[in-house]
Amino acid sequence: MKGLILSGGKGTRLYPLTYTRAKQLIPVANKPVLIRVIETIREAGVTEIGIVIGQTGPEIRETVGDGSRYGVHIEYIEQNSPDGLAHAVKISREFLGDDSFVMFLGDNVIQGGISKLIADFAASDWNSQIVLKVVENPSAFGVAKLRDDNSIEYLIEKPKNPPSNLALVGIYMFDHHVFEAVDAIQPSQRGELEITDAIQWLVDHGYRVMPHVHQGWWIDTGKPIDMLEANSCVLDEITPSIAPDAIIENSEVDRRVTIEAGARIINSIVRGPTIIGEGVLIENSYVGPYTSIYHHVAVQQCEIERSIVLENSRLSDIDVRLHDSLIGRNTSVQRKQTKPRSITLNLGDYSNVWMT
Ligand code: G1P
Repeated sequence: MKGLILSGGKGTRLYPLTYTRAKQLIPVANKPVLIRVIETIREAGVTEIGIVIGQTGPEIRETVGDGSRYGVHIEYIEQNSPDGLAHAVKISREFLGDDSFVMFLGDNVIQGGISKLIADFAASDWNSQIVLKVVENPSAFGVAKLRDDNSIEYLIEKPKNPPSNLALVGIYMFDHHVFEAVDAIQPSQRGELEITDAIQWLVDHGYRVMPHVHQGWWIDTGKPIDMLEANSCVLDEITPSIAPDAIIENSEVDRRVTIEAGARIINSIVRGPTIIGEGVLIENSYVGPYTSIYHHVAVQQCEIERSIVLENSRLSDIDVRLHDSLIGRNTSVQRKQTKPRSITLNLGDYSNVWMT
């Protein structure tokens, strides 16, 4: 069994962060989502992994390398234009050969991993297994309509009037018959070869496609709100630890806080679940639940909760609590030291600011 991770998308819904960073490399609980995906696949015993990359390929190659750091072997497959998930399968034919494979979208985070799913698929005579999840907004996804006996009646990509509330999760298992399907289908209205259509083709041609309805949480980290939600879900499950060289002085740090190497917490309150990254300084501040502070950030005289702050940023002397915030790399948010007392903004394209 091989793994195929799709990591080509531009992540336009996460602008401005994704102008300068591949969306799959944005960290959730201080670990890039793509690395979480690689680890999830490895935990299921799959170590031969292909990553389909697009425009952000160089950055992904640089971060992940040959995969040896993560105990896997990675090959890169270049997709020159974003022609769809089924197109990504098509161009990965040589890497995949005739092996069965699990395809995982590089921005999906799922509770509980995929070991059981992979084991079930490997032990079966199914041609494909798909993962479904009950969602409130099925129109945003591929949707499955099941029969009473749990078999698939049909699948449809982003329907205006969804026939059910079962969304297709971005995790799929296939054997080599999927190549017949991706060769046979035509581009959809959005001009892409849809994996949903390829699976429908398998169903129509008598291949065995098994649906599995996932009970835990699942998040497609497409939008800022999804990143924050995924961050909260993952933080809830982390086993807290405090690095031996972390410094905690005159501070209140509860049991659900993870503190990474060389971080300093001075005169502050930190409430978990929260993660404080390597070399971070938290001083005279409050860091509330569901916050991830990535490495080498300084938070001084501030209050922040349920937020993600990326590396090398600085927050200082802010007199309102930051909440539900997503703050990029090398960013500075600070109180203006000169008069008049006003707000001065220096924002990238597609930034959002909400004032009190
Ligand atoms: C893709 C699939 C869709 C699936 C979703 C899961 O959507 O086309 O069927 O439900 O991933 O994340 P896209 O991310 O291309 O909008």
